[in-house]
Amino acid sequence: MAEIRAIKWANNRLILLDQTKLPTQEIYTEIDHYSKAVTAIKEMRVRGAPALGITAAYGMVLAAMNWCPDQGDINDVLTQAALDLIGARPTAVNVAWAVKRMQALVHTTINPIEVSNQLLNEANRLFCKDIETNKLIGGHGSTLIENNSSVLTHCNTGALATAGYGTALGVIRRAWEQKKNIQVFHTETRPFLQGARLTAWELAKLNIPTTMIIDSAVGILLRTGKVDCVITGADRIAANGDTANKIGTYTLAAVAAENKIPFYIAAPTSTIDLTIPSGNAIPIEERPSEEITHLAGTELTPKETHVWNPSFDVTPHYHISAIITETGIIRPPYIEGLAQAVINSNE
Ligand code: MRU
Repeated sequence: MAEIRAIKWANNRLILLDQTKLPTQEIYTEIDHYSKAVTAIKEMRVRGAPALGITAAYGMVLAAMNWCPDQGDINDVLTQAALDLIGARPTAVNVAWAVKRMQALVHTTINPIEVSNQLLNEANRLFCKDIETNKLIGGHGSTLIENNSSVLTHCNTGALATAGYGTALGVIRRAWEQKKNIQVFHTETRPFLQGARLTAWELAKLNIPTTMIIDSAVGILLRTGKVDCVITGADRIAANGDTANKIGTYTLAAVAAENKIPFYIAAPTSTIDLTIPSGNAIPIEERPSEEITHLAGTELTPKETHVWNPSFDVTPHYHISAIITETGIIRPPYIEGLAQAVINSNE
């Protein structure tokens, strides 16, 4: 099977698999300006924290490549691009993480052509590193998945959400590659349906059977004893282990705790934000109300309906049994383990 690649770079263009069209159409869209990368991020043509980070890195490359002297200092142009990219989806810290790495290079050189080349090399490096990182996460995480067991996941954390392979879905994939007999459940993930559209599509491509449930069936499913562990990804992990992830993750973790089912987070160290002490400081993105009031373009609700559409929630650290990163498995208490993981990542 050809590997799924949500992000490519060719002929000085960023090429994104348009995830709003999946699973019915597999269309790649070409991006030749950083502002179009910002729009693609906002519209969720590309999504998932690590994939957003890589996209932002290539967005910085495009900002440098399109620079011309009448725009003034290239540093100012890149600073604006960085702000726009980080602001496009504020919860996923991987965007700021990647953009800062790109900006750090700019101070070392003043020649604009050299800037573009250096940024492109770095973006390519981050892309390749992300796939390696995910495979390491998969290797560590699969040790937590028993043979003859079942696992529930939420949202989409696979190749589509990363440069390749995936985080939480990468753990499931690795366990499957190790020929473990596992039963997979995934949520549909309202309202953008990353589970129904994307996770189901990826697992089908990998020939991994899965059973989909509606988000609100997690309570009954976890209570039946049919699930041995829950594993999800993360958009930002605070220094104490509080974790922001797709809306519904907190509910899932609380129900898992109530039913004494292990709840794991799988994420690269680039998702750890040691600058914030707890999840209270994580900005929660709110998405347009149309994502709830409409389904495939059809209006479902009366025009007067007021909507609140937070895209993420924060799971408190005490509901998380372990956090799996490329450096290994971190158990509570998290403060020391997360700080050490960032040091060990050498990034
Ligand atoms: O809104 P999305 O689709 O970008 O949300 C994605 C998630 O919440 C993922 O679980 C998270 O980004 C980790 S992806 C490896």
